[in-house]
Amino acid sequence: MTDEARTLIEAARKAAQNAYAPYSNFAVGAAVLLSDGSIVTGANFENASYGLSLCAETVALASVSAQGRFADVVAIGVIGGRIGHADTDPISPCGRCRQVINEAAQVGGRDLSIYCSGATGDEVAEHKLSELLPHAFGPADLGLTGNRP
Ligand code: THU
Repeated sequence: MTDEARTLIEAARKAAQNAYAPYSNFAVGAAVLLSDGSIVTGANFENASYGLSLCAETVALASVSAQGRFADVVAIGVIGGRIGHADTDPISPCGRCRQVINEAAQVGGRDLSIYCSGATGDEVAEHKLSELLPHAFGPADLGLTGNRP
């Protein structure tokens, strides 16, 4: 595992401790690495109206955008597991999150590295966004950026 992956997985695990997931009892944490080395985190944020729930990746990337740093995303770490269990299987970003991640990738012009792990353990799956979401539709299609990674 690279230092970058380890750092992001550790930050994502810490973030998952603040998951608001009383309905699924599945805690997810995301950690977004920016080009200056700083890390912005998020955790899933559920709602009694289940369909309104927000995934950890989306929460983290909305925070990055709110800080004016949406073009500076370099890599993302994502972890998840059932609350009260020591799940070790890596999770993978859901389809909606892949699309949200693609927005940052195209705005920043980078094919982002995505590091995935479980709630605990050393197993980490490393992907490029282009593997997780090939032939993506995004801001480049709307003429908003020429950066199609
Ligand atoms: N979840 C995420 O936060 N990210 C994903 O990529 C997959 C799913 C959350 C949504 C919900 O709060 C819980 O995990 C169970 O689906």
